[in-house]
Amino acid sequence: MRTCFVVCILQRYGKTGIYKGYMFGGPTIYVTSPEACRRVLMDDEHFVLGWPKAAMELMGRKSFIGISQEEHKRLRKLTAAPINGYEALNTYLQYIEFCVISALEKWSVMGEFEFLTELRRLTFRIIMKIFLGKESDVIMESLERVYTELNYGVRAMAINIPGFAYHKALKARKKLVEVLQAVLDERRELEGRDTGRRSKDMMDHLLEVKDENGRKLTDEEIIDVLIMYLNAGHESSGHITMWATVFLQDNPDIFKRAKEEQENIRKTMPPTQKGLTLKEIRKMEYLSKLIDETLRLVNISFVSFRKATTNVTINGYLVPKDWRIMLWYRSVHMDPEVYTDTKKFDPSRWDGPPPKAGTFLPFGLGSHLCPGNELAKLEISVFLYHFLLKYKLERVNPKCKVRYLPHPRPVDNCLARLVKLG
Ligand code: HEM
Repeated sequence: MRTCFVVCILQRYGKTGIYKGYMFGGPTIYVTSPEACRRVLMDDEHFVLGWPKAAMELMGRKSFIGISQEEHKRLRKLTAAPINGYEALNTYLQYIEFCVISALEKWSVMGEFEFLTELRRLTFRIIMKIFLGKESDVIMESLERVYTELNYGVRAMAINIPGFAYHKALKARKKLVEVLQAVLDERRELEGRDTGRRSKDMMDHLLEVKDENGRKLTDEEIIDVLIMYLNAGHESSGHITMWATVFLQDNPDIFKRAKEEQENIRKTMPPTQKGLTLKEIRKMEYLSKLIDETLRLVNISFVSFRKATTNVTINGYLVPKDWRIMLWYRSVHMDPEVYTDTKKFDPSRWDGPPPKAGTFLPFGLGSHLCPGNELAKLEISVFLYHFLLKYKLERVNPKCKVRYLPHPRPVDNCLARLVKLG
């Protein structure tokens, strides 16, 4: 992975962990040290989310990046447990495994294909099922393509002129709103009458919830929460799964060790047991380290945005009210004082005790900690388990250039062949 511009700042101005600059049309503070990142992330009184306005236009004013702290707390409580709790993960596991096995089978006879594009489809299928169970199969194909356009615009220059990524992303958002509104209208129409025995999805929960005054969510609120979750819930997991597979393939010793672990797990499964359970997932200790190492090295969410609600001091520096703060996770994960040989892919670095607080932030921290972290790790583990047992990946352009925005990815979307082993 290449050296980012914050590393250049560090070299030029020394390691203060906090720097001043100008970005997204306003003064900005870059926070780069574990302690300072942690300080900001854990302090909801002095810091709130501070995404650039252009990103908010895409994600929606009523998504988590636009609402008040109270509203966020309420919606988060409602949406996080049904995704990440033990019960939920247990329920999703079977579906994830089914999707993974059929995808791998399909790709192995496809010849050359874009591995990343297919992985994004796979993770999108899973998150769609969780949020829009009933309609997911019908609208999935068209929405996934629209999401790609949306995502390319989130971290692009906010130039709303035809041909530019941001313009395309605004159009994509409009399309998403139309499709989700149609689903919502149909669900409202069926409300009370829908007596089928299907299990509830997230859309049902969002339609039912009331606040302490008995107020239900508006269509705009539901749609923005859906747009945000469906986006966050597949992009990062798809990319990390791709990189973990690529790193495995590039490091034969690591591949061998990870494969042996999965073979042992499979051998100890009761012969009558059909698929994986959370018990097996917990045994994947080396695989879990391998995923953590991928998260550290790839830095899929390399930055988070906050804003100071008042004049506040961090590490002895005064941050004026309303200034934007960029928490630069990449520099935390590439800090040579925390991680030796930072650019090396080395799952064994996680053999020791857990990392010191604030030094490993792939899913953020505090009240905005990623609510899909456990689900993401589950998806990636199930995929790697089946990949390691039966397949290998042959990239067409192994030295392909990497593009870093909106997320690190090979410019050929990891064109490859999947070979089934005898
Ligand atoms: C490898 C996969 C993933 C990574 C690396 C990742 C990373 C992150 C990070 C760093 C944040 C915190 C942002 C901040 O502090 O401003 C976050 C928030 C979020 N993530 Fe994830 N995420 C992943 C997968 C998922 C999945 C599978 C879902 C959906 C179930 C999801 C949904 C969200 C949502 C809704 C938020 C906003 C939370 C809030 O503001 O309270 N993410 N994610």
